[in-house]
Amino acid sequence: MNKPQEESNYYSEGKAKFYVGKAFYNPESKVVRDLGILAANIYRQDFGRLKILDAMSGCGVRSLRYWLESGADWISVNEGNPELNSLLHHNLREAIAQNCCHITHQDAHRLFFDCYHRRDYYDLVDVDCFGSAAGYLSTMLWATKINGLMYLTSTDGRTATGHSTQNSLQAYGAYARSHPAAQEQALRLLIGSVQQQAATKGLGIEPIFSLFTGKTYRVMLRLVKQIQLTEHNYGFLGYCHHCGNYQTVSWRKLGKVACVHDERPLTISGAMWLGELHDLNNLRRMRSLAKLWKWQQVAGLIDIMTNEVNFPPYFYTLAEIGRRGKLDIPKRSQLIQALQANGYPAGVTHINAQAIKTDANINTCITLAHKLKCQN
Ligand SMILES: C[S@@+](CC[C@H](N)C(=O)[O-])C[C@H]1O[C@@H](n2cnc3c(N)ncnc32)[C@H](O)[C@@H]1O
Ligand SMILES: [Zn+2]
Repeated sequence: MNKPQEESNYYSEGKAKFYVGKAFYNPESKVVRDLGILAANIYRQDFGRLKILDAMSGCGVRSLRYWLESGADWISVNEGNPELNSLLHHNLREAIAQNCCHITHQDAHRLFFDCYHRRDYYDLVDVDCFGSAAGYLSTMLWATKINGLMYLTSTDGRTATGHSTQNSLQAYGAYARSHPAAQEQALRLLIGSVQQQAATKGLGIEPIFSLFTGKTYRVMLRLVKQIQLTEHNYGFLGYCHHCGNYQTVSWRKLGKVACVHDERPLTISGAMWLGELHDLNNLRRMRSLAKLWKWQQVAGLIDIMTNEVNFPPYFYTLAEIGRRGKLDIPKRSQLIQALQANGYPAGVTHINAQAIKTDANINTCITLAHKLKCQN
C-alpha cells in the first residue's frame, strides 16, 4: 500500500486525520460534513445503530468522521475511481483493522441496486456527487432502510435557479424560473423530486435539514414508510415580476392564477416541495450536540436554520426592497424588528445574508423600510 508522501497533502478535520492525494477534497465544505456528523449521531441515539454507505467517498473523510465522531458501527466506502484504492486503504486502516469497513469501487447506481439485491440496507446513505444529483434521487432509495437517512449534494445551481428551464424539466420534471429567492427554490426542487420518486415506491421522505452553502445545495432526508406527497405540500411558487410578491399556487388553481395584489400574471415555478426545509426537533438536538462539542459556528448556523421554520417558502432580498421602494437598502435587523413590532413574524435566512423571511408582503416591507429611513 502506497502511503502518500507529500506533507502538504495531509489534513485533519474533526477527529479525522487523512491524506488527500489525487482525490477531490474541499476543506471549505467542513460545515457540510459537520452537520452530517451531528444528524448521524442523533440517528444513532434514536435507533441504537449506524451503518453508513458512503457512495462517493473521495479520500474517505466522511466515512472516517462518521466512524470516529458519529459512532458508526459499519462503514461501506465506495469510490468510483479505483485509483484511490490505496489512499482509502491507508486513510481507513484503523476501521479496516477493527472489521468495521469495506471498500469498493463501483458505479453508485450499480452499488445501490446491489445493496437492494442483497437486502443490505443502510441507516445513512451519503451521495456527495459532482453536478446534478438528479440521476441518484431514485436509485439511492433502493439502498436505504425505512427511517434511514440520505445525505445528498447538488452543485447544479444554474438549472434549479431558473437559468435552464429545459434542463430543469429533464432533471426534476419541474419548470424552474428565475426570481430573487431562487436558491431556496433549488433546495425545494431537490426535495420535491425525491419526495415524488419515493411516492412512486409507496414511500415518503421527511427533510431533516436543508443547506445552501453559497455554491452547493445539500439536503438530509429521512425515508419513511408512509407516502408524504400531497397536492398541498407539492405544488408551485408564483412570483410577480411587477410588484415583487410571491404566492404558492396549488395544482387546482393553475388555470386561474394571478397576483393577488395587482392581478398581473405570475411567473410560475414547480412543482416543488412547499413543506418545511428542516425538522425542528432534529435541529434542536443537533444544536445541543454542537454546543456540547463547542462547535459554536455550526450551532450558530443551526440557530438560523431553526428560525427559518414556519415561514412561507421564499424570502425577500433587501436589495429588492430597496430597488422597488426607491430607497437605500435598509438594515436587516431594523427591518425585522419593525416587522415584528407590527405583528408580522420575521427573521433571517441562512440562504442569503442580505434577505429576510416574513409573512408580510413586500409592500409592507417597503412601507416599513420607508418609515425606518424617516426615523434615522
Ligand atoms: C465530491 S467528490 C467526494 C468528496 C467527499 N465525499 C468529501 O466529502 O470530501 C465525488 C467523488 O465521487 C466519485 N464519483 C463520481 N461519480 C461517481 C459514481 N457514479 N459512482 C461512484 N463514485 C463516483 C468521484 O470520483 C469523486 O471522488
Ligand atoms: Zn403583483
